[in-house]
Amino acid sequence: MPRTGFRAASGFLAACYDSLVVKMVHIRPIRESELDLVDSLSQDPEQTGPHGFFGYRDPGRLRRSFAENGLLGDDQGRLAVALGEPAESGEFVGEVSWHRVTTGPMSFTCNIGIGLLAQARGRGYGTRAQRLLAEYLFAHTLANRVEASTEVDNAAERRSLEKAGFIFEGVVRGACFRAGQWRDMASYSMVRADLR
Ligand SMILES: CC(C)(COP(=O)(O)OP(=O)(O)OC[C@H]1O[C@@H](n2cnc3c(N)ncnc32)[C@H](O)[C@@H]1OP(=O)(O)O)[C@@H](O)C(=O)NCCC(=O)NCCS
Repeated sequence: MPRTGFRAASGFLAACYDSLVVKMVHIRPIRESELDLVDSLSQDPEQTGPHGFFGYRDPGRLRRSFAENGLLGDDQGRLAVALGEPAESGEFVGEVSWHRVTTGPMSFTCNIGIGLLAQARGRGYGTRAQRLLAEYLFAHTLANRVEASTEVDNAAERRSLEKAGFIFEGVVRGACFRAGQWRDMASYSMVRADLR
């Protein structure tokens, strides 16, 4: 096979492999044995990435919340992003989270977040996990809108949200304080009708 043909074939096979692996990404409840990894996603600057470190926090808070409700409350929750079959025994590669934002006397939206372990990034898992979380929230809550925001220069998260089907709505100026500066946030959403 000519060199270029070989390259094209191996690129095609790699793309097929990646898309098969991405289908093995699931979201499921977090286990107690995974709490140190969950903590590292916000407390270890090497894991948080350049946009995710907001200073050190109460180290006992995560375990107290886990003891209270397994990190699955009525107004907020966290689930593991897991890789492998079956879903329940998949390997922990990160977490997704959400919290309710009240938008009217009878209405609320779900604002979501995500953090993957450094070694699990850039393989499509974030896209798949955020899509799964939106589908999960539309299936199990009455929210009509799932929203996400990220610093305007977080290119990986912006692209990942777009690939997951979120719509860019604009920039919210000076909305988030991190590492000594107020940051502009790119705002995205998905509404139920977008799923059809
Ligand atoms: C942001 C995050 C969740 C994305 O998940 P991921 O699995 O790494 O992302 P995916 O592989 O699904 O998609 C990333 C896309 O962004 C692109 N991308 C990554 N870095 C980029 C950069 N610096 N500039 C432009 N595009 C970039 C990738 O090429 C890919 O797009 P493509 O498939 O069209 O090539 C993950 O990287 C992460 O956990 N980062 C640290 C925590 C974080 O920033 N969380 C969000 C806080 S709001």
